[in-house]
Amino acid sequence: MTERHWPFLPSRNVAIDRAEGVYLVTRDGQRILDAAGGAIVGNIGYGRQRVADAVYRATLDTTYVVPPWLTPSREALLGALDNWLPESLTRVHVTSGGSEANEAAMKMAVQYQAAIGEPTRSRIIHRDLSYHGTTLATTAVSGHEGRRRGLERALTPYPVTPTPYPLRCPLGSHHADCGAFYVEALRATIQREGAETIAAFLAEPITGSSGGALVPPDDYWPAVRAMCDEFGILLIMDEVMTGFGRTGRDFACQHWSVLPDILVSGKGLAGGYAPLGGVFATEQVGSALQDAGFGVMFNTFGAHPAACAAAAEVLSILREEDLVTRAAAAGETLSRLLEDAFADHPRVVECRGRGLLQAIEVVQDVETLEPFPQADNVTARIVGKALGKGVFFYGGGTGSVRDIVCMGPPFIITDAELETLVAVLRESVDEVTR
Ligand SMILES: Cc1ncc(COP(=O)(O)O)c(C=O)c1O
Repeated sequence: MTERHWPFLPSRNVAIDRAEGVYLVTRDGQRILDAAGGAIVGNIGYGRQRVADAVYRATLDTTYVVPPWLTPSREALLGALDNWLPESLTRVHVTSGGSEANEAAMKMAVQYQAAIGEPTRSRIIHRDLSYHGTTLATTAVSGHEGRRRGLERALTPYPVTPTPYPLRCPLGSHHADCGAFYVEALRATIQREGAETIAAFLAEPITGSSGGALVPPDDYWPAVRAMCDEFGILLIMDEVMTGFGRTGRDFACQHWSVLPDILVSGKGLAGGYAPLGGVFATEQVGSALQDAGFGVMFNTFGAHPAACAAAAEVLSILREEDLVTRAAAAGETLSRLLEDAFADHPRVVECRGRGLLQAIEVVQDVETLEPFPQADNVTARIVGKALGKGVFFYGGGTGSVRDIVCMGPPFIITDAELETLVAVLRESVDEVTR
């Protein structure tokens, strides 16, 4: 038999035979507490019979239907979304994942501008610390050095503006004017590039793993929303990681009562039970494309009936079990435990995040914020140590930004499991940075 390489490039490989609740079970029976919900995806926990039954029924009843006409599971998903989406987002496009959804949102923004007579507005402003996907266009708008490596010359040079990073704000750590600083940086980017060339501003409301649960100052988002309106720029919020309850609100933009023109989702939409992404746009965006006769192409596997069935069920379970409230409460417990564990730690400079999207930042020197050398592989070593102790964390950072360990467990995690998670994290950080 030919030797086939899986994964494509060599990396640590673990054989998992089962997933149940917040645990993965390895082939030799070890239970791993999944403190990251995979890639910060699992929200209702793994192995729910109800979701499996819905997927089974959709597979038997309507296996595959394209073009994406209505099927019972697609109708169920639309019904479930009614309990989640802000009223202003009336147009729904469903893809097979977050990258495709961001790419579709970028295309819609450019088409929208062309449709309203602004064809020179074809560029997307993104932020220097961000991640939006694997395709060439979404990589081009991702401020993630590590994931751009070897592709630099193939990536469209879209305009870039800094991501709010309160700890490392150039005015000083958590400076009172930090929010205004980053808002003015965006204004400078728009003015330098020319508003007449910009279709949209694409950003994560709370920066996911690239920055490690970076929460902007409270004045940032309302001012950015106003600035987008002032310059005729659409606001696309990438809620692939933060959407559907992860940060303790239905959507992270609601922490600041700000609504985007296009909201992008993935991950928690189907909670890991199926691949699915969603693009939700305002009527203004949708009707402009419609009036101009522009198309929005579907993906062959977008809105797959089985995936829609999974998502409809996951979204219903989140509501029935009041799991967004649970994510908010568990998030407060996790914050408190992290603060207690790392308050005086010589290598952990910050614990941050909202709800069940949290991270710690590990540095060589907490006074100067000097990181460990990249070659020390501190994040990977912490993640490896913790895995050896039965807890899986998600390594964050971008390469030049390091060392960040992210947490995003399923919302059903108990307080006792949160205590275990934090104890293992503390031990692993100590052992690696000692
Ligand atoms: C904020 C954000 N956007 C987009 C993506 C890409 O989604 P996917 O991996 O489903 O294509 C990710 C994945 O990590 C993400 O975190």
